[in-house]
Amino acid sequence: MPQTLIIQAIRDETDRIRVFDLTAPEGAALPNWAAGAHLTFELGEVGTRCYSLIRWPGVDDPACYTIAVQREDDGDGGSRKMHALAVGDRITAQGPKNDFELRDHPGPALLLAGGIGLTPMISMATALHGANRPFRLVYAARSADVMGFANPLQSAFGTGVTLRYDDTAPLDLDALMGTLTPDTHLYICGPKGMIDAARTAATAGGQSEDQIHIELFTNSASVDGDTAFEVEISSTGAVYTVPPGKTIIDVLEAEGIDLIYDCQRGDCGICQTDVISGTPDHRDVVLSDAEKASGTLMQICVSRAKSDRLVLDL
Ligand code: FES
Repeated sequence: MPQTLIIQAIRDETDRIRVFDLTAPEGAALPNWAAGAHLTFELGEVGTRCYSLIRWPGVDDPACYTIAVQREDDGDGGSRKMHALAVGDRITAQGPKNDFELRDHPGPALLLAGGIGLTPMISMATALHGANRPFRLVYAARSADVMGFANPLQSAFGTGVTLRYDDTAPLDLDALMGTLTPDTHLYICGPKGMIDAARTAATAGGQSEDQIHIELFTNSASVDGDTAFEVEISSTGAVYTVPPGKTIIDVLEAEGIDLIYDCQRGDCGICQTDVISGTPDHRDVVLSDAEKASGTLMQICVSRAKSDRLVLDL
């Protein structure tokens, strides 16, 4: 159910990361949420964008949501539109919704964040800290000057936080995964390259897939060099062309086909579809390497085709 929110306060964390406090009209209480939840903002012609809710230790105002948005100057306009908002502006959002919940496990948690993928991890660290559950937070960014929230993280969680910088002190994923105990659950949020590398290092180190929990922060649907391909719907035999810059969901929905999906980033698994023939070009972080190699499943919100045509079980 969409709700109207009012921008109550704005502050700049870095040159590109802006923090927004949002309230309901008249300051009414807002729906509850748990660590890992996000809001989906409706941004007119640029579509919808999801931003994770942030909660710090000792800060729990039921009448206020806090999010952080990193401006992507080369992006498709969503973050720039968010950065153009001013205090007092109204915006429509759906949620909170949670596809990245903290699991109930006795062992420790390793929270691994890349860039602005930190935001859900702040709330997770707060929840774990409040429940006296063991955790570490490892946070990597390109350099110290573009890293947001380093000081408040260290103030809130002390030695539980490790900071890594690609330019001076890069993250060694193999070494990090080598420190995990078998009962550790790994939560990863960041760009796809980091997620894929971390997952590979974790499974190579013996971590089981069901202890690895992932949220992709950026949309990986479009890549330079994408070409058109055809999608055939097995139930009707109808064939549609998916051009570069459009997803399978974009094309099929425009043709009036009802589809079930949610994140549209390739990390929730809701749009998963059986592939009857053809070769998918997987761009999600849901499927395991073995599932991807099987070629029988795909996430149609982001993945494309390596073959000229895919026949989908729709
Ligand atoms: S809608 Fe979430 S993976 Fe496709």
